[in-house]
Amino acid sequence: MAPRVVLVGPMGAGKTTVAGLLGAAWGLPVRDTDADVEAVAGRSVADIFVESGEQAFRDLERTAVAAALREHDGVLALGGGAVLDPTTRDLLRDHRVVFLRVGLSDAVSRVGLGVGRPLLLGNVRGRIKALLDERTPIYEEVAGLTVDTDGRTPEDVAREIEEAL
Ligand code: S3P
Repeated sequence: MAPRVVLVGPMGAGKTTVAGLLGAAWGLPVRDTDADVEAVAGRSVADIFVESGEQAFRDLERTAVAAALREHDGVLALGGGAVLDPTTRDLLRDHRVVFLRVGLSDAVSRVGLGVGRPLLLGNVRGRIKALLDERTPIYEEVAGLTVDTDGRTPEDVAREIEEAL
């Protein structure tokens, strides 16, 4: 089994919400690797970062992503940084990957104060800008389809994906 579609993109792109809408539209189960990591670790993503550090989170994430890509027959949303891992990028070559693109302003307004998102602590706008600059080329590289989300509702974004796939 493999996911029917894998959503990638930065925090604030709407991956979790759009995944839920696609799952409902297609009658397919939805999985989110942040939730998988939290279930395995028995702690929130934020607590893992604070107590064990980012590298510990990335190790758990790599394992969770590989398992989900192997097992999940439905819609899969990856955490925003999952594509940083070269092994994960290799695995994604065999899947239908959609990049939910988002610009700085929309990402900032969607994440709000960044509660629960440890990488954004201190300077939400500056941190998101750095993440977008660093990662946008990687999302583009792994995705077969890019969908713009700026100024659009999740329903509208999900509809475009449904029509495109
Ligand atoms: C991260 C994104 C988060 C979560 C963690 C790190 C990142 O997932 O995995 O806080 O590196 O961009 P979302 O993109 O679902 O918020």
